[in-house]
Amino acid sequence: MRIAISTGGGDAPGLNAVIRAAVLSALDRGWHVLGIRKGYAGLLGEDDVVPLTRDSVRGIGHLGGTILRTTNRGNPFSYPVKQADGSFVEIDRSDELIENARNLGINALISIGGDGSLKIAHQLWRKGLRVVGVPKTIDNDVSGTVATFGFDTAVTTAMEAIDKLHTTAESHDRVIVMEVMGRHAGFIALHSGLSGAVHVILIPEIPYDIDKVCEAIMARESRGRHFDIVVVAEGAIPKGGTESILGASLPGQDRRIGGIAQRVAVQIQEKTGKECRSMVLGHLQRGGMPTGYDRLLATRFGGAAVEAIDDGKWGHMVALQSPHIVTIPIDEALKEPRRVDPTHDIVRTARRTGISFGD
Ligand code: F6P
Repeated sequence: MRIAISTGGGDAPGLNAVIRAAVLSALDRGWHVLGIRKGYAGLLGEDDVVPLTRDSVRGIGHLGGTILRTTNRGNPFSYPVKQADGSFVEIDRSDELIENARNLGINALISIGGDGSLKIAHQLWRKGLRVVGVPKTIDNDVSGTVATFGFDTAVTTAMEAIDKLHTTAESHDRVIVMEVMGRHAGFIALHSGLSGAVHVILIPEIPYDIDKVCEAIMARESRGRHFDIVVVAEGAIPKGGTESILGASLPGQDRRIGGIAQRVAVQIQEKTGKECRSMVLGHLQRGGMPTGYDRLLATRFGGAAVEAIDDGKWGHMVALQSPHIVTIPIDEALKEPRRVDPTHDIVRTARRTGISFGD
C-alpha cells in the first residue's frame, strides 16, 4: 500500500501534527508514504514528491506551518497558466494529475485542506482518485465538524493581542479597532473577543450599524470608562453595505478581504470625537506553535485519516463530533458553510456581559 499526503490552501497551526500522525500510523501498518509538496501542484510537475519516513516527521508535531509547503493557487480544475503576453488562462489539468498519481503508484491520497481543497478532493474522488479529506482552517468555517485545527491557536493569538491592547488603550483613553481573519465567518472575532473581554464585536453574521457602535462607546464614556477595544472580523458588513475588499489577488486566488478596521476606526473618530487607532492582526494568526488543543485534534485527525483509508472511506473526511472522531461524506460537509449562529449561547453571553454587536 502506498499513500500520499498533501496540504493545500492557507496554512494552519497543526498541519505538521496531522502529517506526523498520519505517517506514523501508516508506517505502523507497513505502508509506504509519499508527501506531495505545495498542494496539488506537486502532482503537476511544479514541485516534487518526497518519501515520508519516520525521520521526516521526527520532532515536527509542535511546529507551525507545513513541511510539505502549501499554496492557494493550485486548483487542478482551473490551473492558472501564464501566456506569452503575460496574461493568465485557467485550464483543467485534473486528468494529468490523476495520471501522475497512478504513475507514482499512489493507492490513496490524504488531502488536508479547507473548503477549497476539500472541494477539489471531492472532485478528484469523483474522477477516480481514492481520497480521504482532513478539514483544516483557522476560520473554523467547515460544517460537519465541531472544530477544525488551527482555530484554537488563532483565537489564542488574537486573545493575547487583545490583552496587550487593553493596557495601551486604557493609558491613552483611546478606541482601538483590531481586525482579525475568518473570511465570511466571525468565529475568530467572537471567540477571541469574548475571551478577551472586549467592548464591541463586529462579525459578518450580524451586520452592524456604526451609530450603534458609537452609542455603545459613548455609553461606556458616560460610565467613566474612557477606552474601548473593538474586534472586527475581516468579513464584517455594515447594514445595507458590503464587505471590505483589498486590492486584486493573483491569478487563481480568491479575492482578498480586509481593510475594515481602518474604515470603522475613522468613522468612530468622526462620530464620537474620541481618538481611534486601528490594527490588522493578519498572518500572525496563522503562525506559531499550535496550542495543545490543536495539536491533539490534528494528531487525532491524522490517525483517523489513515484508519479511514484502511476502511475504504473514499470521498469522506474525518470530523470531530465530540467526543469521537467520525468520517462524513465530503460533499455533505461542503453543502452549507459553517457560520456563527446569532442565537448561540456565546453571542447571548457576550451581549449579557455588555458587549455590543453594533446591531
Ligand atoms: O482561510 C484562512 C485565511 O487566513 C483567511 O482567514 C484569510 O482571509 C485568508 O486565509 C488570507 O489568505 P492569504 O494567505 O492568501 O492572505
